Amino acid sequence: MTAPRFDRLAPLYATLEAVSFGGRLQWCRTALLADVADARRVLILGEGDGRFLAAFLAANPAATVEVIDGSPAMVALARRRAGAAADRVTWRVADARHFDPPGPPYDLIVTNFFLDCFEAGELAALVAKLAARLALGGRWVVGDFRVPAGRWRGLAARLALAGMYAFFRLTTRLPAGRLVDPNPALAAAGLTLVHERRRLGGFLAASLWQG
Ligand SMILES: C[S@@+](CC[C@H](N)C(=O)[O-])C[C@H]1O[C@@H](n2cnc3c(N)ncnc32)[C@H](O)[C@@H]1O
Repeated sequence: MTAPRFDRLAPLYATLEAVSFGGRLQWCRTALLADVADARRVLILGEGDGRFLAAFLAANPAATVEVIDGSPAMVALARRRAGAAADRVTWRVADARHFDPPGPPYDLIVTNFFLDCFEAGELAALVAKLAARLALGGRWVVGDFRVPAGRWRGLAARLALAGMYAFFRLTTRLPAGRLVDPNPALAAAGLTLVHERRRLGGFLAASLWQG
């Protein structure tokens, strides 16, 4: 199976997001930046158009980063957005499911609105593979949607997610059809949730996991 095709969407991605969520998704991506200011060897999967990456590189001038994304257009946008700091980044256009990151372990992995692209079996396999590439005590930042507790909030979240999955399946051929909670897979891979920030009534979660 090939990676979903975000190329057509890439130039519109930030605008679509601004119209639907304002600045809230960027809040989610960057909510834990201060917690990982000491990270030096970093792997970012499904970075998209580079808005987290640009903020991370500016906040963390000593880090080197490896970016893996299946979309050449997203990688091109991210590279442009990184500006002069792009020389601290290794860029790889690849399907994360079939890619084995080379080299020494990472002290930080970042997945923002990326784990939601996978159905349960693929998610568990991907999380286990990546967790094995974390250094001892390494951390993993996950920014993503969650279905909050509570009847009405849960219902509103499910309706919003159904709309988003329909849209992404149509435009990118996303394999996942619904949101899978990544927390059990992260815990099963030996990681512990150490910090979490929520917004939009719990619909957005920025989580910090540690090995
Ligand atoms: C929903 S977008 C999120 C982008 C960005 N991280 C953000 O915070 O908005 C998912 C990103 O992951 C990439 N992606 C999805 N599935 C992938 C896969 N199997 N392998 C590599 N990249 C993938 C897409 O190309 C896209 O850039």
